Amino acid sequence: MAKQLWNKGFDPDAAIENYTVGRDRELDLRLARYDVEGSMAHIRMLNKIGLLGDDELARLLPALSDIAGAIERGEFTIDEGVEDVHSQVEFMLTARLGDIGKKIHSGRSRNDQVLVDLKLFFRDELKRLANAVDRLFGRLISLSEEHRDKLMPGYTHLQVAMPSSFGLWFGAYAEALTDDMQMVLAAYRITNQNPLGSAAGYGSSFPLDREMTTRLLGFDRPHYNVVAAQMSRGKTERAIAAAIAAVASTLGHMAHDICMWMCGNFGFVSFPDELTTGSSIMPHKKNPDVFEIMRGKCNRLQSIPGELAILTANLPLGYNRDLQLMKDILFPATSELVESLEMADFMLRHIRVKDNILDDPRYDYIFTVEEVNRLVLSGVPFRDAYRRVGEAVADGSYRPDRTVCHTHTGSIGNPANDAIKAKMAGLMSEI
Ligand code: ARG
Repeated sequence: MAKQLWNKGFDPDAAIENYTVGRDRELDLRLARYDVEGSMAHIRMLNKIGLLGDDELARLLPALSDIAGAIERGEFTIDEGVEDVHSQVEFMLTARLGDIGKKIHSGRSRNDQVLVDLKLFFRDELKRLANAVDRLFGRLISLSEEHRDKLMPGYTHLQVAMPSSFGLWFGAYAEALTDDMQMVLAAYRITNQNPLGSAAGYGSSFPLDREMTTRLLGFDRPHYNVVAAQMSRGKTERAIAAAIAAVASTLGHMAHDICMWMCGNFGFVSFPDELTTGSSIMPHKKNPDVFEIMRGKCNRLQSIPGELAILTANLPLGYNRDLQLMKDILFPATSELVESLEMADFMLRHIRVKDNILDDPRYDYIFTVEEVNRLVLSGVPFRDAYRRVGEAVADGSYRPDRTVCHTHTGSIGNPANDAIKAKMAGLMSEI
């Protein structure tokens, strides 16, 4: 039997149907609860503007609540032959209530239906992402405090450079996450605007009360211009992808550091045996596969803005079916990133940090700048002090003094973690 909302008396070819529906039946399941939420707001509004009677509303709302219950219980599916979640919900209502079910689509189109569903879904996904980032942030700050005085080499050009510390290293990734959180918050603000009422993308001749649905759905404001609202499909996804890529770049970078610090030639950090992986041939191996997978996933996630940009480049104004394919790209991405953030948090709970790394003579030259600065403090001009220490290095007479005294804001002795925490708390209070 023909199961398209738009069926006009002929059945489309099955191959065409399969090709165009793609993965929607599976992906749309994640939109189902939001589709029902959007329809509830829409029919309340239709009732208020006189397009739906009180008795009709009174029958439709409980029926939609029942569908919402089935969704919560995991019992909702999109039937074979039904195109998407929007069609499935409408068919279910019509099967149960007859003609009243057919009324909910007045003043709507699947174009603004899917927009509303996506906005509500992404809003929750961004909250989930923000919370996962914030949890990892908290872990990094507490590790920074715990290992605040443990020194490690700082590198430039991957050559031993100046003293650093685990306090700085953990804290650096924490603060980098606050920058990423600015992107998450920006994506959240762009997302949290109401497209409902834009219908097919050009509004409706019904006097739709868009302020009412904005309130009911908890959006910050309407996406006022209906064409802009439709255009936000794509723009919203690209903003979210930029936020995902930002977080992924920080996490991937940290995963790479850990892989390197775990390497026997560095040996700065280690993990309990059960959190490492082995080799099928080399009996001694304890490999950092978790962080390699994390690095790989994070690198892949950074390609998503590019994928979306190419998918949506130069599309004609208004709805085009290409937009559907963004779901395939973005839906798995937020989950994958959250999973990796949670894994990083779990691993870091068990990280072991090596003590007294800088006692090793291979790091002796790391203290040359400290030596130069001591001479400067005693009145020697910087360039003369630099030359004097350089000569001592060259003739082999340089002996390191391992005392490190960095006190300015954001340095080894004063990593400013409280200020960084306040920055993150400020951002989190807006999501
Ligand atoms: N599955 C579609 C999508 O994600 C729903 C909207 C369909 N609209 C249309 N005009 N064919 O875009």
